Amino acid sequence: MALLFRSSPESAARWQPHFARLMPELEVRVWPEVGDCAAIDYALVWQPEPGLLASLPNLKLIMNLGAGVDHLLADPTTPRHVPIVRLVDPYMTEAMSEYVALQVLRLHRRDLDYAAQQRDRVWWELDQKNAAERRVGILGFGVLGQDAGRKLQALGFDLAGWSRGAKAVPGVATYAGAAELPAFLGRSEILVCLLPLTRETEGILDRRLFSQLPRGAALVNAARGGHLVDADLLAALGTGQLSAAVLDAFRDEPLPPDHPFWSHPRIVVTPHIAALTNPPTAAPILLDNIRRLREGRPLENQVDPARGY
Ligand code: NAP
Ligand code: GLV
Repeated sequence: MALLFRSSPESAARWQPHFARLMPELEVRVWPEVGDCAAIDYALVWQPEPGLLASLPNLKLIMNLGAGVDHLLADPTTPRHVPIVRLVDPYMTEAMSEYVALQVLRLHRRDLDYAAQQRDRVWWELDQKNAAERRVGILGFGVLGQDAGRKLQALGFDLAGWSRGAKAVPGVATYAGAAELPAFLGRSEILVCLLPLTRETEGILDRRLFSQLPRGAALVNAARGGHLVDADLLAALGTGQLSAAVLDAFRDEPLPPDHPFWSHPRIVVTPHIAALTNPPTAAPILLDNIRRLREGRPLENQVDPARGY
């Protein structure tokens, strides 16, 4: 029973002790030392090179080292007959919620304005609402979106969530599908994107969407860089339609040194750290799916390739 691990070599060293402890019978091969491809049963991967998974003829399960599987589905050679499971780890969910709560509070409490004032040694009191008067909208109301929503609700924010299918969540204004998007956007003073990157959501954060937000709204994108049309964000910040953006994911990562986002006074850049994969908590979750497959039980968090997430 062999597993191919494909991520960085440093990452492999962090995972190995957990595999050894939890499933000692599992032979773990760390890419590029693949050995006999036909002997690989399972693959645990993050951004594998196109064609790698297709080169494993007896692969039974593809496990993603993160929540978003866009990189796997973007490769047309990824075998479609092999189940793909994504990582859903409560530890990561909590991390994302911390990130979202921090950034929403920063925007709500005008942290960027006060940081600029401090740079200029300005002592000036700006208008401030309470959280209950601030309407926050979460695009993508799934595992991460709903947990972040619960924490924002606990802070008192007036919350809405948008998803593909209709949801009923106590205390949250829920919207579903393209038809209800304009109403959701029209009330989102702070918009948080936690969508998966799919054919339908690629480039969704564009000029058209920004124009439907209340004037001066702020954006937090903690999902994927492919959701955002970079030039449209810069234009919306330029006209004042948007007042600020916090970005954790980018079309090119690392964000190139000459990218205008780095130095924009109304953009906060973080290096894709909102919710990092945590081997001690993630390893048991991932290995549980191997056991489920071996015992013929249903897999957890299986991706639907047709839906794209
Ligand atoms: P999830 O549980 O699958 O939730 C996705 C949500 O998006 C669901 O509510 C889904 O609607 C909604 N959705 C998908 N396509 C849609 C569409 N076309 N229109 C409207 N709503 C749509 O995923 P998750 O675990 O919350 O993760 C979300 C994403 O976060 C991941 O895909 C990943 O890209 C990103 N992420 C980023 C980081 C980071 O560190 N920056 C870390 C982890 C994850 P339904 O509920 O109706 O299906
Ligand atoms: C990180 O971006 C993830 O998808 O887990």
